[in-house]
Amino acid sequence: LTSSDLQEDILSDLKYSDELNTWTYATKNNLDHQLVIGCIRSIQSIGDIITVEQQTSKFVAPTDEGKLIIENGSYEYRLYQAVPDTGIEHEALMQLPNAAIGFNKAMSNKWFKLDKSIVRKNKTDVTDEVQSLLKSIQSMELKDNQKEISDLKKRKLVEDIVINYLIVKKGPGFTTTVTKGEADLTADMIQKFTEMPTNNYVESSFWNFDALFTPQQHPARDAHDTFFLSDPAKSVDLPMEYLEKVKQVHSTGAFGSIGYQYNWQLEEAQKNVLRTHTTAVSARMLYKLAQNKPFTPAKYFSIDKVFRNENLDATHLAEFHQIEGLVADYKLTLGDLIGLLYEFFRKLGMTKLRFKPAYNPYTEPSMEIFSYHEGLKKWIEVGNSGVFRPEMLLAMGFPEEVSVIAWGLSLERPTMILYGIDNIRDLIGPKVNLEMCRENPLCRIMSTSDVYAVRGGK
Ligand code: PHE
Repeated sequence: LTSSDLQEDILSDLKYSDELNTWTYATKNNLDHQLVIGCIRSIQSIGDIITVEQQTSKFVAPTDEGKLIIENGSYEYRLYQAVPDTGIEHEALMQLPNAAIGFNKAMSNKWFKLDKSIVRKNKTDVTDEVQSLLKSIQSMELKDNQKEISDLKKRKLVEDIVINYLIVKKGPGFTTTVTKGEADLTADMIQKFTEMPTNNYVESSFWNFDALFTPQQHPARDAHDTFFLSDPAKSVDLPMEYLEKVKQVHSTGAFGSIGYQYNWQLEEAQKNVLRTHTTAVSARMLYKLAQNKPFTPAKYFSIDKVFRNENLDATHLAEFHQIEGLVADYKLTLGDLIGLLYEFFRKLGMTKLRFKPAYNPYTEPSMEIFSYHEGLKKWIEVGNSGVFRPEMLLAMGFPEEVSVIAWGLSLERPTMILYGIDNIRDLIGPKVNLEMCRENPLCRIMSTSDVYAVRGGK
């Protein structure tokens, strides 16, 4: 059974009923609840096949002790089994595990009679009611046996648990056959890209801004927007030959550009910051790539943390994550970028895109990416993109015919949209509800059938 088989099973089930409850579905079919939720989320990301509503309820479920009894039988039943027809010394019987509790229960059930110190069976046959009650509670068949449930609660064999589950209904585009989407990131998809080394949160202004043709007076380079380090305040290991070209293209202009015509300062470029975007790492990688002669096309991606001096609110934190991708090749155009973005976002489950002209110091043209959100019924900004400027690429040493297309997006934004979270602080930071982390499916980078195996499915 692969994950798309499970999707089709779930949809066939839904075909003949008004709604499907993920928790009951998982229990009934002996599946991991997270796996079922994960499947529903990927069906949801394909389009309007289903509608999904999150709910929270209290259920009664066996405790760990209750589960042991489901496996091995109740203490009283095990005592009963242990008594031979000829009877047994009370003291010997009491050596069995949990004998004291079992003996009390068995006596009040009138299963035994005491003949001085000898325990004898009082019934020729008994049934293990406690075990079968627990079994039916576990498979959720028990509803109205309030008296029995409260007895089991007193014995701490069952407890109330709070479950977050999904109620799934047929959507306007309901179908039971899903064309296999690629909501899961697979090893194969990743292998076509090289992952960039993003393991340095501290970056010089040079790589974070100057190499990206961001002038030294740009508002993003102000302490109101960026965290500057006081110790160590400066980077001294900058590539000087390249740095001279960057200085030139900013101050006097070069490579056919008139530049910004200002007095470029080394001290400003040396200032250490907490990187404000992963594009700083992209700049380092591109510079390295440009040193390889002859030029070989490359694809890079990264997913890591960035920092901005933001006013914190429901949608802004001072640290968040970015996903970034870039392709360097001969003669890439804006059309290549648009096509690639459609493909990239389609694989994330976003098919309706719109592009809006934008401005970044390092890309021209630049486009903000918007995606239509079916649930919220509006267009949402999901990313930013562009074609890197010649002022940046030629200073690095790329041949003129090479272009680099790139895009970046926050990891939190699509996550909030996908999981219906309206406060970013529910996603990272000290107020994160650990239950939410446990309840939502993990994205693992492996083939979907392996994901199934890890989660213990059939
Ligand atoms: N660095 C941009 C941001 O932080 C994203 C981006 C990456 C834009 C690459 C264009 C090219 O929003």
